[in-house]
Amino acid sequence: MLSESDVQTLAAAAKDASGRAYCPYSHFPVGAAVRSRDGAVFAGCNVENASFGLTVCAERNAIFSAVGAGARDIVALVVYTPTPSPVTPCGACRQVLSEFAPDADVICLCAGAERLTFRATELLPHGFAL
Ligand code: THU
Repeated sequence: MLSESDVQTLAAAAKDASGRAYCPYSHFPVGAAVRSRDGAVFAGCNVENASFGLTVCAERNAIFSAVGAGARDIVALVVYTPTPSPVTPCGACRQVLSEFAPDADVICLCAGAERLTFRATELLPHGFAL
């Protein structure tokens, strides 16, 4: 499990990223940050498109940013939304988590004090794998 200070580092990165969300259609900003085993942090925000189905969630952008930098071993993901209660990753992001971060701690934070914590496998039991 991550230390509280590691969670706070990821929380700050995720919150910062949520401020860069491109969400003119949903007006629902999301920020995410992942930590690789060596301690590097990668963040992402949701990026929408006028062709709505092309939207990519914050979680996937953070994970893909890590993988693109060569950091495939992801140990934690923090999701932040400026909402009263935390939100949990969508199904597509859970599948991507199962590829790169099956044992990761997933922590969902919001503007309030409530926090949800999961293991990635808990969010998607029996995910698809080849
Ligand atoms: N969104 C995320 O970024 N992550 C999630 O886990 C769920 C939804 C985004 C997609 C879209 O830009 C907006 O939130 C509303 O669905």
